Amino acid sequence: MTTDHQAQGEAAGPAAELPRLLRQLDADLAAARNAEEARGAASRLLGKKGALTLLNRQLGTLPADQRPAFGAALNAAKAEASARLETRLAALDREVFEKSLAGPPHDPTLPPRGAPCGHPHPLMSTMHDIVDIFAGMGFQVAEGPEVEDDFHNFEALNFPPDHPARDMQDTLFIDAPGNLLLRTHTSPVQIRTMRSQPPPVRVVIPGAVYRHDDDATHSPRFYQVEGLLVDDHTSLAELKGCLTLFVQEFFGADVTVRFRPSFFPFTEPSAELDCRCVVCKGAGCRVCKGSGWLEVLGCGMVDPEVFRHVGYDPEQWQGFAFGMGVDRMAMLRHGLSHIRALYENDQRFLRQF
Ligand code: PHE
Repeated sequence: MTTDHQAQGEAAGPAAELPRLLRQLDADLAAARNAEEARGAASRLLGKKGALTLLNRQLGTLPADQRPAFGAALNAAKAEASARLETRLAALDREVFEKSLAGPPHDPTLPPRGAPCGHPHPLMSTMHDIVDIFAGMGFQVAEGPEVEDDFHNFEALNFPPDHPARDMQDTLFIDAPGNLLLRTHTSPVQIRTMRSQPPPVRVVIPGAVYRHDDDATHSPRFYQVEGLLVDDHTSLAELKGCLTLFVQEFFGADVTVRFRPSFFPFTEPSAELDCRCVVCKGAGCRVCKGSGWLEVLGCGMVDPEVFRHVGYDPEQWQGFAFGMGVDRMAMLRHGLSHIRALYENDQRFLRQF
């Protein structure tokens, strides 16, 4: 009986295995898609339990006269297997490199793309614009704490002890000794400013305030800008001139304003400034609730009682004050119907500004 190997003129015995193993290696290397697969194929011959390693162990079982030839054939096969692996690895490397060149052309001289850049929140830019208009009229910026005491938030501003704003329903109190609360308006900074300096005073006061309030147009935390001017010849005419100019700068020169009598404990007389609805121009719409007018801010001449609380002589000094909601101004300016959008931090909304 003749074997295949003898028919092909190849060596008989264990050495006859070698060409077949190398042919198998060639096929496996050609099929390998990456370096890892190629190394796996080679280790099936050269690894600890690889076919050539196992044959090496049989060397001792051969008759002594066959050992040198088989040993030499085995070593040659190992060297051959290693060489074929290296050749295949080099080819795979080249393939990866060439693939990387095949993509879109890379221009290393282009400037870097740059980190994404944020921008001011619409509430902050509205507040900034409001402050800016008053700064242009000579007002300086003043600020105060958001955690206040009863004296600055209510008492010095002439709120009577039983005023509803002092009720738990409207004001968020701090659960700690000291009668502290979250300020319900920026007006306490009027008191802090006047107690820290003699007249004249001309300040604009931006900041966050808090009320027990939460619906489509109210948020428990919101923003106000307050203003206070104290001098020795301040009149209601100056208040009207100053605030009319502000509204015209903010909404546009063609806006119509009206002053409507109102009441605040710390101003006398008091008024609300309305402007013709910027959406419907006075015809009546959803934004102005059909009235044709928008309430923009509260204002008035500083009540002499407030001057007494801060040690200013009410016979010598007069002043006016005003306060407005920044959220409302931002909603009017951008046509927002829901205050939530300003606090939800949804990037799809914020990216529009
Ligand atoms: N503090 C008042 C409020 O929050 C607004 C106001 C400020 C009114 C100054 C008059 C003068 O409603």
